Amino acid sequence: MSRGVGVLVSGRGSNLQALLDAGARGELGPAEVRVVVSNVAGALALQRAGRAGVPTEVVPHGDFPDRAAFDARLRQVLEAHGVQIVALAGFMRLLTPGFLQAFPDRVLNIHPALLPAFPGLHAVRQALLAGVRYSGCTVHLVDEGCDTGPILLQAVVPVLPDDDEDRLGARILHEEHRLYPRAVRLVAEGHVVRAGRRTVILGSGAG
Ligand code: GRF
Repeated sequence: MSRGVGVLVSGRGSNLQALLDAGARGELGPAEVRVVVSNVAGALALQRAGRAGVPTEVVPHGDFPDRAAFDARLRQVLEAHGVQIVALAGFMRLLTPGFLQAFPDRVLNIHPALLPAFPGLHAVRQALLAGVRYSGCTVHLVDEGCDTGPILLQAVVPVLPDDDEDRLGARILHEEHRLYPRAVRLVAEGHVVRAGRRTVILGSGAG
């Protein structure tokens, strides 16, 4: 039985593209992207979804009096498309508890750093300024905080001596595109359980 995935985006959508491509190659297991929702009209991600034949919806956050009302609309749109798993892919809004409770432990985010280091904006720049030798990317379950939820998967990327934000960011992004489809598949297959602040990956899916 397939599991409906809704992808929330605000911009470029390269991680969305990675999910769509993985799905087209049969690499998402039971996960199926059913809708792409953007809070920004004209986001490039919407064109990517359109090209892949995936329905799109625009829900501009400015049209709503508060976050709860915006999130209630998001939830309505996702449920109308049969979504059980929500993947944030460059979605620049925090989600309210009411929204998260509708998809318990089934909202994922990808971040371009090895959390809990360097949450928030400009994570690649933060890592370079801190002088770390290794950075990377993290897929985590989403909670009400900014990049604070339980970690699911990480990939490590070495920082090279002549790296700048663009070069390091590009190598991290390359790993993001491999990691996110794996994470979505694990969740869709039911291999992920939460144990407090940690996640446990059951069975052989951990590789
Ligand atoms: C990625 O770096 C992701 O880790 C972060 O926002 C960026 C989105 O890029 N959350 P894209 O829209 O998927 O190309």
